[in-house]
Amino acid sequence: MIGIFDSGSGGLSVFREIIKILPRERYIYFADNAFCPYGEKTAREILGRCRAITDFLVSKGADIIVVACNTATAAAISDLRKEYNPLKFIGMEPAVKPAALSSRTGVIGVLATAGTLKGSKYLMTKGRYEEDVRIVEKVGRGFVELVENGILDGPEAETTVKESLQPLLDAGADKIVLGCTHYPFLSDVVRKIAGPDVEVIDPAPAVARHLHEVMEEEGLVRQDARPEGLDLELVCSGDDSSAKRILSMILSQMDYKC
Ligand code: DGL
Repeated sequence: MIGIFDSGSGGLSVFREIIKILPRERYIYFADNAFCPYGEKTAREILGRCRAITDFLVSKGADIIVVACNTATAAAISDLRKEYNPLKFIGMEPAVKPAALSSRTGVIGVLATAGTLKGSKYLMTKGRYEEDVRIVEKVGRGFVELVENGILDGPEAETTVKESLQPLLDAGADKIVLGCTHYPFLSDVVRKIAGPDVEVIDPAPAVARHLHEVMEEEGLVRQDARPEGLDLELVCSGDDSSAKRILSMILSQMDYKC
């Protein structure tokens, strides 16, 4: 069983990509929305939540965990890997590399939470590409709250997104890296503001492919017959209405019956 978690509904943007590749697996998705957002919390607080969630997911039968949250990956994944060894954890990383390698203007923009932008993994990746491209960053202020409240388009979403995005566009970025799993739910708004010459990059498809590879290596890919529909349990630490709404939006877009 694949356990997936995030501070809220953001990780469902990763789940959406995973089920395109692995539709017949058993899933449990944990939205830690009682403690959302993670973005401004300390690494210690986030690690505490990640341990509690991992214990819960393992108790439910998860044999691989997707940390579908850039902030939690930055704060906790190396400790989780040590503490729960040999359990496998698949994490998120802002897609700086593909953006840097394909930028024509030589400027890339990264939108992420404060926690992700100060994480050592991100800083190392950034250091590796900074000689070739200019990397400009912004915290997507208010983005997580929009998504958690189910506001994925319209004037309020546009005003909020524009405030963080415009400085990156003004700096000449032709690639916008979505470094938080909540942000892909606002990617239509990002595209509308950024225009057709700017590419919006979400690492979720690459993470889904990586999960598939690791599951094959570990012999974890489900071998029995494909279940009817989706085999998913959704668990929220807070109110579940928003996560349920986003989940049914995703599933109906993918022609799943729900
Ligand atoms: N979705 C998360 C991420 O990828 C966390 C957002 C938050 O809770 O601040 O970073």
